[in-house]
Amino acid sequence: MAVKKLQVGVAGLGRMGKRHALNFAERVPRADLVAVSSPDENELQWARERLEPLGVTVYKSYDDMLNHPGLEAVVIASVTAVHAEQSIKAIEKDKHVLCEKPLSTSVEVCESVLEAAKKKPHLKVMCGFSRRFDASYRDAHRKMQDGLIGRPSVLRSQTCDKLDPTGFFVQYAQFSGGIFVDCAIHDIDLALWFLGEEAKVKSVAAMGITAIQPDLRKYSDRDNAVGIVEFHSGQIAYFYASRMMASGQEDTTEIVGTAGKLTVNIAPAMNAVNIHDSMGIRREIPQHYYDRFEPAFLTEANDFTASCLDDTPVPIPLESSVQAVRLGCALQEAMITEKKIFFDQDGNRLDKATL
Ligand SMILES: NC(=O)c1ccc[n+]([C@@H]2O[C@H](COP(=O)([O-])OP(=O)(O)OC[C@H]3O[C@@H](n4cnc5c(N)ncnc54)[C@H](O)[C@@H]3O)[C@@H](O)[C@H]2O)c1
Repeated sequence: MAVKKLQVGVAGLGRMGKRHALNFAERVPRADLVAVSSPDENELQWARERLEPLGVTVYKSYDDMLNHPGLEAVVIASVTAVHAEQSIKAIEKDKHVLCEKPLSTSVEVCESVLEAAKKKPHLKVMCGFSRRFDASYRDAHRKMQDGLIGRPSVLRSQTCDKLDPTGFFVQYAQFSGGIFVDCAIHDIDLALWFLGEEAKVKSVAAMGITAIQPDLRKYSDRDNAVGIVEFHSGQIAYFYASRMMASGQEDTTEIVGTAGKLTVNIAPAMNAVNIHDSMGIRREIPQHYYDRFEPAFLTEANDFTASCLDDTPVPIPLESSVQAVRLGCALQEAMITEKKIFFDQDGNRLDKATL
């Protein structure tokens, strides 16, 4: 008997889209990549050469791809600005959705995706926060759930990208939503996962600087930022995001509990090799997030596929990914306005003057 495989299409064939497409085409045993789409001629040419020989149909139009016969699920790896629109179109066409983070840079737009998904509860709709699929984060989460560190109280987490001297991050800032919505959003997602999806926010404070790329200020962004989120449950999340690491990608997390702490990647390393020379002893580290998290993206693809085929809940609740954007936007606002923002137990904003 033929084994049922999920029929997948990938929208967007930029940096992430190519990786998702190749993963689903070659490395996800329970899925078939059947279609891709991109508005970009160079990306289409790449797809014709690399994917068409594998039996993948290449579309210029996303809407045409959605009509591909037998298509069951869509991976959205387009620019953030169209994530929500493409997700909603896919949901309306009865397709499962794995959408790259963030769902949108606007909370209201994120909520519209959530509403669309609620109308089709048989569909699996998930935002791809890749860190939840990383083996080390999963192990740490399991150990925390087993009670190894007591009650998790403080989460300290950073996403630090390697400096790009070409000014890439300045151009990127026009559409990214800013350093908290685009970069620290991974740490925010981790905070929700480790401290509890239901944890209620009490206050948000943030500050940022442009240590190396002052042009980011044109887009209300910064290249280094620190954010602190306090929860009504008596927990704190502390985030550091940077776009100027000299050595490479330095994403580390510490979860401090009442009976111990867990750390993830506290001393980044590419592998087990140390270089001993006249400079001393040193080691190389991953240069970009994909060097560090490639296996996590593959696990994400396999787990999403299993959820669709087996009709099990998606590994990341969609509500949580909307809350991540809510927090990212609040941190971004606190950073730009230099004002701490307060919330009541029901999530309503409080004017500081009334406190
Ligand atoms: N999960 C992660 O760790 C992670 C890492 C990097 C990027 N991302 C996310 O992935 C998404 C893509 O990032 P990327 O680095 O691949 O970007 P990219 O610029 O390399 O690719 C963007 C893609 O969007 C397409 N596109 C551009 N304008 C469009 C439009 N108006 N309509 C439809 N498609 C359009 C481009 O042709 C391209 O295929 C972003 O939302 C980003 O936040 C996630």
